[in-house]
Amino acid sequence: MEENDTLETKGLSRRQVITGAGVLAAGAAVGRLTAWPSVASASGGSTEKWPWPYVKLDPTVTAELAYNEWYRLFCGGAVISSVFSQLREKVGEPYKSFPIDSFVYMEGGVVGWGTICGSNNGAALVANMITGPRIAGGEAGHHMSSDMLEWYSNASMPVFVPKTPKINPDQIPHTVSESPLCHVSVGRWMKEANKPIGSPERKDRCARVAASVAFHLVEMLNAWKDGKYEPASSWSPVGDFGINAQQNCTACHGSDVPTPPMAKKS
Ligand code: HEC
Repeated sequence: MEENDTLETKGLSRRQVITGAGVLAAGAAVGRLTAWPSVASASGGSTEKWPWPYVKLDPTVTAELAYNEWYRLFCGGAVISSVFSQLREKVGEPYKSFPIDSFVYMEGGVVGWGTICGSNNGAALVANMITGPRIAGGEAGHHMSSDMLEWYSNASMPVFVPKTPKINPDQIPHTVSESPLCHVSVGRWMKEANKPIGSPERKDRCARVAASVAFHLVEMLNAWKDGKYEPASSWSPVGDFGINAQQNCTACHGSDVPTPPMAKKS
């Protein structure tokens, strides 16, 4: 199979063709025939076939796209767009039908609530679609998402410097968030830079963070494509601590980290 074969040309199974035809007939019967009947089967159709086709991308090109796209779509959407817009060109479907712009909601740690930084969220989405979800054998995307949270938390952000920056790099200090959260990451940077949330410097910093994440995401995806991806993070909080959590418990709890009720050992 050629790398740039689309899911459509990769050959729908006979069962799917039959199911698709059935849906098409049913759709026609009720007068709601859509332009994309092949995905309307009960099993979820061609978008639920894993992994999605991937061709290796240039990390720098991807980061530049993310940097510029941040000014239209913000962090999460910019990371998704930087990868999927290229795959729309190089691969076609299912990327062409994927609604990139809807992921603008990842901005500001999900609509401004300062939870997970949208760059991490967008990267996790891309990794899980391209390698497939954990419940369908896509271990790599699960690990890449965790690796990204860890890498992001420890990186001196922003790492990536765009070719034609909108703001002089001297005005963008570097900070380590020690957290994958938007609130903490942006807050620590704002304190260091002494710039408000609406400043051009803060915006450019976040655009560069999105670009940095897009760069690292493509590095991982390219390694995976070559069969060389190795998970970097071994963080498993539920098994080790009995609760979902980021790693630095003491940052929030101080020295008195609570212990959750643990399942009784029989
Ligand atoms: C980003 C901040 C943050 C981090 C990091 C964090 N926690 Fe929490 N955690 C909280 C907050 C806030 C609560 C709610 C506390 C409350 O209601 O009293 C909480 C609640 C808990 C609870 C349940 C409530 C209790 O008091 O028993 C446990 C257990 C807990 N955390 C353990 C951990 C462990 C273990 C880690 C690290 C592996 C961790 N936390 C990391 C903020 C954090």
